[in-house]
Amino acid sequence: MKKFVYERPGGVDVIRRVEDSPPRPEPGYTIVKAQFGSVNHVDIWGRMDLPGQPFPRVFGSDLAGVVEDPGDGPFNKGDRVLLYPMKFCGTCERCLQGRENSCFYRALYGVHTDGFFSELVKVPHANVLRIPDSVSLEYAAALPVAYTTAYHGLITRAGLRSGETLLVLGGSGGAGLAALQIAKAVNSYVITTTSFDWKKELLKRAGADEVLSPDESLYERVMKLTDGKGVDVVFDALGGKFVELALRVVKRGGRIVNMAMTAGSEVSFSIRTLYANNVDLIGVYLGTRSDLYSLLTLVSRGRLKPIIDSVFPADDVDKAQIRMEKRQHVGKILLRF
Ligand SMILES: NC(=O)c1ccc[n+]([C@@H]2O[C@H](COP(=O)([O-])OP(=O)(O)OC[C@H]3O[C@@H](n4cnc5c(N)ncnc54)[C@H](OP(=O)(O)O)[C@@H]3O)[C@@H](O)[C@H]2O)c1
Ligand SMILES: [Zn+2]
Repeated sequence: MKKFVYERPGGVDVIRRVEDSPPRPEPGYTIVKAQFGSVNHVDIWGRMDLPGQPFPRVFGSDLAGVVEDPGDGPFNKGDRVLLYPMKFCGTCERCLQGRENSCFYRALYGVHTDGFFSELVKVPHANVLRIPDSVSLEYAAALPVAYTTAYHGLITRAGLRSGETLLVLGGSGGAGLAALQIAKAVNSYVITTTSFDWKKELLKRAGADEVLSPDESLYERVMKLTDGKGVDVVFDALGGKFVELALRVVKRGGRIVNMAMTAGSEVSFSIRTLYANNVDLIGVYLGTRSDLYSLLTLVSRGRLKPIIDSVFPADDVDKAQIRMEKRQHVGKILLRF
């Protein structure tokens, strides 16, 4: 059985295709045969020498496949399934509240512990979701990290409503585009950004009402588009200096969802702007199984169609990651196993 491993921190040259014996059945676990995975920016962060990231390890956090061995779980061999990418304890205070993404003992598969890019993957039954018949394995594989985080941030936490105005900072990436599509599915007015002119048309086709460049003119242009009022919600997939911008463009009483530090992890802003304007600043790390289930339902009912940028054979995962690092993609990059 082949598995994809980061041997040590570094560039794509640290990716190894390793032969290993198949996983052994164990009570409490399902064994899944990989069919489609998808690439996330966290796979790239995951190659870096950051605390809590062990090496060597199997990488990959998004995987859809078919059940190979259901063990003592509820599935049958051949069932089409999607993996929830957070390892959680199931018994801590947060897990009991249905908030597995805040589990006190959590670990993201592929980042903090061995991940999913193997021909066969052994996972706790609780991490396995059935894929509705009308949802393709490709669409399912696009959902776990990017769409679940966007859904959790916008719907579960920020409570985005129909008719509200949303600014998505970084709308061309996996998570940003997911936010844009989810917001359109609930009838919001969406302004978004990309640094590349050629991506603007693609974002318009994906449903964006306005697409801007993330440059010095961004504040004025957002204010102009909103008649000087600002936006109800900001989905910030960039971080850094954009957090301060988010605080300036959000309406009094609005919400800011941050889930990334692509443009920097250290930020500076006046705390007065936050409290005096009754702004909710919401930090988001992945989402819950319930969010992922809602997304499968939205896709199965035709309300959401994940945007697939490209499909690579799993053996070319290095090329797929380079495409992401070079910012050549719009939407999800899939891997076929
Ligand atoms: N908190 C969580 O649970 C969670 C979940 C998913 C992702 N994330 C994080 O969210 C970020 C995006 O993830 P992803 O998988 O969606 O990645 P991605 O597909 O590579 O998207 C990256 C996005 O960032 C923009 N961008 C990159 N560098 C930029 C820069 N210097 N200035 C302005 N824009 C820049 C890109 O836009 P253009 O190239 O069009 O400008 C693109 O929209 C990553 O940092 C990732 O780790 C966090
Ligand atoms: Zn827990």
